[in-house]
Amino acid sequence: MSSERARITIFDTTLRDGEQSPGCSMNQQEKLRLAHQLDRLGVDVIEAGFPIASEGDFESVKAIAEVVRRPIIAGLARACRQDIERAWEALRQAERPRIHVFLATSDIHLQYKLRMTREQCLAQAREAIELAKSFCDDVEFSPEDATRTDPDFLCRVLNAVVEAGATTLNIPDTVGYTVPTEFAELITRIRRHVHGIENVTISAHCHNDLGMAVANALAAVAAGARQVECTINGIGERAGNASLEEIVMAMRVRPDRFPYETGIASEQIFAASQTLSEITGVPVQPNKAITGRNAFAHEAGIHQDGVLKNPLTYEIMTPKSVGVPDSKLVLGKHSGRHALSMRCEQLGYQFDRRVLDDVYRRFVRLADKIKHVEDHHLLELIRDTHKPSMSATPLIEPIVPGHEAVVNAPAHEPEKAVALPNSNAFGLPLPVHSEAHHEQTQQEDYLWGV
Ligand code: KIV
Ligand code: ZN
Repeated sequence: MSSERARITIFDTTLRDGEQSPGCSMNQQEKLRLAHQLDRLGVDVIEAGFPIASEGDFESVKAIAEVVRRPIIAGLARACRQDIERAWEALRQAERPRIHVFLATSDIHLQYKLRMTREQCLAQAREAIELAKSFCDDVEFSPEDATRTDPDFLCRVLNAVVEAGATTLNIPDTVGYTVPTEFAELITRIRRHVHGIENVTISAHCHNDLGMAVANALAAVAAGARQVECTINGIGERAGNASLEEIVMAMRVRPDRFPYETGIASEQIFAASQTLSEITGVPVQPNKAITGRNAFAHEAGIHQDGVLKNPLTYEIMTPKSVGVPDSKLVLGKHSGRHALSMRCEQLGYQFDRRVLDDVYRRFVRLADKIKHVEDHHLLELIRDTHKPSMSATPLIEPIVPGHEAVVNAPAHEPEKAVALPNSNAFGLPLPVHSEAHHEQTQQEDYLWGV
């Protein structure tokens, strides 16, 4: 089965398109650091930059080309001599260099931005590829704004650049305008109408303006694209690019729908995401799929209970599979006793049921006030139960002293057995072995996950 899966080339453009996001520019040292991490992640192509754009970008591409030897190193160039020569100058030391040439093909861009005719565009694209090809075997062409280009004209341009020697045809949805069915149709049309298409790789480059970049990229793959261009954390121009981690994990988690393979070492995903965020100072959106801090966090008690019993209940991939240290149970007002007792155990405290109920009630009241109960709050709450006067957090309700119950302290620290009052948070004695207690316990059992 696995040998039947088509291999998808992962072209990472975090260092080029990604760097074009506001606040995400990187210096040479930072780019090199990220390039090494992308190498560990197993990407096939690193688009290291746009060498003509600045001296710094040129030096960064050159440095990456010199030291990162496994992946293909690509440099971007407009379809003109100066750009292509500069790109080649930066890339020439690479083990596997690729020149990536782009030229807009939509009427909107031709008329308002480039002020050229379709015929001029066609000729310029062909000449640019011929020039790039004179330096380098591996040449990629991107008709910018392809999804808003007249499809017949698009195919004419693609035919011309394949004839001129392009080895990859990248189809950019530059403004994030297309939708999955339409993009798949475009790829199918290109496969039908471009001569020699079977000898070149079709690539998808999707932007996220309508939140469909990943869906569009996957639709393109289903229609025959064999390279996807993407970025870590989905950074990129405006709303960003298709996110690498989402594409890769969609293929891993749903091989029934996406029977494709990549060379990505998925357990390096989290490290790549964190490295990028640390370098740029741009935090990952908390609910970002795969790499956001909430991606494996469960706060609702029902969810926490399920995950503790079997992670499959609410997790479709393991945190470990993408390099996240562990799934995180966030303790908040929706958390249940199961998660609370688990966290207490992790902190070294094992409570019997009655004491746990008591700690739980005080915990819920605290969570109502401070939203997220961190470990230090919980420790204080537990300690405060023992010595109310020591509380440094006035928000933690003191326990009204009553009969004391002994808590199972951590096995490795028997001397730290803690004595707790035998009354509840309202100062009322906890019922022991009564009918009422039996009923309450049954109800609490039901509430275990709530
Ligand atoms: O979005 C785009 O069109 C691009 C091209 C340069 C590939 O980034
Ligand atoms: Zn782009």
